[in-house]
Amino acid sequence: MSNVTKLSGKVAVVTGGAGGIGKVICQCFANEGARVILADLDETAAMRAISEIDCAENKVSYHFLDVANENSWQNLFKYVENQFSRLDIVVNNAGIYLFKDIEHTTLNDWNRVMSINATGVFLGTKLAIPLLRKTGGGSIVNMSSSSGITGSPFEGAYTASKGAVRLFTKSAALHTAKDNIRINSVHPATTDTSMVEVLWESGPDVKKMVTDAVPLGRLAQPIEIAKTVLFLASEDSSYMTGSELIVDGGMTAI
Ligand SMILES: NC(=O)c1ccc[n+]([C@@H]2O[C@H](COP(=O)([O-])OP(=O)(O)OC[C@H]3O[C@@H](n4cnc5c(N)ncnc54)[C@H](O)[C@@H]3O)[C@@H](O)[C@H]2O)c1
Repeated sequence: MSNVTKLSGKVAVVTGGAGGIGKVICQCFANEGARVILADLDETAAMRAISEIDCAENKVSYHFLDVANENSWQNLFKYVENQFSRLDIVVNNAGIYLFKDIEHTTLNDWNRVMSINATGVFLGTKLAIPLLRKTGGGSIVNMSSSSGITGSPFEGAYTASKGAVRLFTKSAALHTAKDNIRINSVHPATTDTSMVEVLWESGPDVKKMVTDAVPLGRLAQPIEIAKTVLFLASEDSSYMTGSELIVDGGMTAI
């Protein structure tokens, strides 16, 4: 490994770090010299993820977080300030999927999806700003989706939540630009993680149909999304803020 790393000396919070994409983001950040706080609701999955991440001891540590709960965020950032005395990067990656058309979506379904996918990103952005400002700037990467750009007949609440992330990111980026805090969103299409297993279980040929519909002819791998997040988190994207990076194998070009 080269001695020159992209995130050397940086402190990063990655939400949903125990999941398919989040774990690989934590691995990429650790490879680039960051100290990473893997923040997730699921402690068991988080400890398993940390044991699978290949890095020096204590490079990636766990802290509990429910992204939908403001107190939980305040506890996390208090811990970060006391433990690390700085914050450079926040990846608002935690999210849940809902495979339901709008007529089958209950109000509870809607509120749950919005509270995690949209409110979670709002809280993680708003409450990170004072700490990032103290550091002198930083980068926030918000995980949206190609489903935050195009509609889908069977993802009513999910598309609404991811569309909210897309425009919230732009407004937040305009608010923080003078503080040298860059905020961008990432828009993956279907990525090979357990989140989309519900899709594969919905019919015998669904996985083949979804895969065949992708112009590049395959699903995204978590590392392909993680590398995009790393780009936005690092100084390689120093002139980018309020932008949306689409990583979808060509899906939205159709
Ligand atoms: N997998 C895909 O096809 C795909 C495509 C586009 C966008 N995305 C987005 O990428 C992100 C990561 O997806 P993934 O595929 O890795 O999913 P995943 O289900 O593998 O991981 C999601 C993680 O978020 C955590 N989480 C859920 N609710 C939480 C909460 N309230 N507080 C804290 N943590 C919580 C889970 O415990 C889990 O570790 C999500 O925002 C998802 O919407 C995924």
